Amino acid sequence: MTLHVNLLINICFYLPVPKVITVKEGSDVTLPCFLWPKDIRSKVFFWLKVPQTTAGGQKVFLYDNGHLYSDERPGQSEQFKGRVSHFPDKLKQGNASIIIRNTTRADSGVYRCIYLDLQKPQIFHIKLVVGEYFDETVKDVLSFKDWSLVSTLLSIFNVCLNSGL
Ligand SMILES: *[C@@H]1O[C@H](CO)[C@@H](O)[C@H](O)[C@H]1NC(C)=O
Ligand SMILES: *[C@@H]1O[C@H](CO)[C@@H](O)[C@H](O)[C@H]1NC(C)=O
Repeated sequence: MTLHVNLLINICFYLPVPKVITVKEGSDVTLPCFLWPKDIRSKVFFWLKVPQTTAGGQKVFLYDNGHLYSDERPGQSEQFKGRVSHFPDKLKQGNASIIIRNTTRADSGVYRCIYLDLQKPQIFHIKLVVGEYFDETVKDVLSFKDWSLVSTLLSIFNVCLNSGL
């Protein structure tokens, strides 16, 4: 068991995979994004959720020089309406992180923080895992007391699977 886990970790940690954040269903989560140049108050950035299928991604959040999604700027995905906000007092430090409230399993997936700038566009990838991804058969085989360890290992495993290993 230990050998396999070590192997898994060694393989996985050398892959260029997005940062993984795991939360329990119903909790709030901060998706981090840090941009350069520092002061982004008069800039444009947005967050997309990468589609599971081929159709276009979901629009999660928009910041455009102080303007957010609203009646005048429609387009935000229904799934995220009223649940996502940024940190206005952190913008001058280049902090484009967002918080998603009351997460559901449907929020699981890969998110992109995109900074639109002709000179220096930047994209960040975050993988969000909501809920515990262990099923009954796994629970029976592993009689761990430490479920957070198990769920961490399984989320690493999921990353491996998703990156085609
Ligand atoms: C951005 O701000 C949020 C809210 O204060 C904080 O939790 C997060 O750590 C900050 N991220 C960075 C990269 O500074
Ligand atoms: C969280 O979401 C669930 C279903 O998605 C809903 O039933 C519940 O009222 C929400 N809780 C809060 C605090 O918004």
